Amino acid sequence: MTKLWGGRFQKSAESWVDEFGASIGFDQQLVMEDIEGSVAHVTMLGAQEILSTEDVEKILGGLAELKTKAEAGELEFSVANEDIHLNLEKMLTDLIGPVGGKLHTGRSRNDQVATDMHLFLKKRVVEVVNLINVFQKTILEKAEQHVETIAPGYTHLQRAQPISFAHHLMAYFWMLQRDKERFSESMKRIDILPLGAGAMAGTTFPIDRLKSAELLGFSKVYENSMDAVSDRDFIVEFLSNSSLLMTHLSRFAEEIIIWSTDEFKFIELDDAFSTGSSIMPQKKNPDMAELIRGKTGRVYGNLMGLLTVLKGTPLTYNKDMQEDKEGMFDTVHTILGSLKIFEGMVRTMKVNEERLHQAVHSDFSNATELADYLATKGMPFREAHEVTGKLVFTCIQRGIYLLDLPLEDMKAESDLLEEDVYDVLRPEAAVRRRHSLGGTGFDQVRLQIEKAKQLI
Ligand code: ARG
Repeated sequence: MTKLWGGRFQKSAESWVDEFGASIGFDQQLVMEDIEGSVAHVTMLGAQEILSTEDVEKILGGLAELKTKAEAGELEFSVANEDIHLNLEKMLTDLIGPVGGKLHTGRSRNDQVATDMHLFLKKRVVEVVNLINVFQKTILEKAEQHVETIAPGYTHLQRAQPISFAHHLMAYFWMLQRDKERFSESMKRIDILPLGAGAMAGTTFPIDRLKSAELLGFSKVYENSMDAVSDRDFIVEFLSNSSLLMTHLSRFAEEIIIWSTDEFKFIELDDAFSTGSSIMPQKKNPDMAELIRGKTGRVYGNLMGLLTVLKGTPLTYNKDMQEDKEGMFDTVHTILGSLKIFEGMVRTMKVNEERLHQAVHSDFSNATELADYLATKGMPFREAHEVTGKLVFTCIQRGIYLLDLPLEDMKAESDLLEEDVYDVLRPEAAVRRRHSLGGTGFDQVRLQIEKAKQLI
């Protein structure tokens, strides 16, 4: 079988060498983008009278046929034709004859492949942003149901202060909001067209790059043809934004996992998002959350992979860059899947209010309230901290909590403590009274939810 670039060659490579160099196994995922790019390119060639109207029509007809076949999954790709670009060009000439060979006028696979990648990511980033938005809505809805559900808040995974459970959920809303912003902002750099850069130096044909950009819906073209064919920053940026997104999802996943344990029992995951054990009949495992936590690894790996591929490559295109694809496809697939699963998991999970109530009433997470109470009455906070610590210690020794401690025992440590301290110590009061901006007080959480609604 002769290669489309075979003219200069005396000898053909052995098939296993071809196989090693081929990208068709994975870049066939770019089939639609490659056809789209070719349609725009040939249309531009026609408009510039570089190709005759007749040739352009033939080529467009052939491309349309290939597109229909691609949609029906009827294209048969071959490793001998190396990649998606050469496969499609070969199919086109088989279909319409040698005129198909005119499609590549004024173009190189170098600007072609970069164009495909830009087109591909442009579409996928829109999907990612939409899915983040859907997930945020679900978090918001859950949060709205639990503004007055009090839960223990943690630092060091030790009970710290009581919080509104909605406040905890909303923390993830804001992380996702930043992710959404990062993906949206990155669009500015994905939305630049490399087509027309040729192999790397531009072309002698009187092409119109702005016309191609307009046809393909790009706002800009690369200003430098060498940069155009060697830039993969936009992919690195996508992988980096995805990594941070996965960091957030994996932190949330970890909490879901902890909350579903018998030790915590703060939530129960829906059966649809859990699995059983093949040996232990009592088990209900949070597999999906664990898997998302685990998949974070491959997304980080894809980022490190591409950074390493690009490091030290000289300008301009190098075959190394073929290695940009699998990690990108894998990341797109992984984050879209993770977002979808996570949304369903949160939408269907049951929050165990009773258990949360119990938890928050059987700890010392209201100790700060006592210290604040004393400080409000004029005692220096440091001293108030000390007095409270002593009272906590007394309680621990007696096996009771602060709310159970009689006033006379309190007074033994400080005269400033009065009957009204018990109101302040109630977890509900502890939450309600934290109405500093962005705090967990119910009114602040409601305000936060209102602000959040404007963003989705
Ligand atoms: N399959 C190649 C890639 O994905 C396409 C570009 C090939 N260009 C070249 N000059 N060999 O990077």
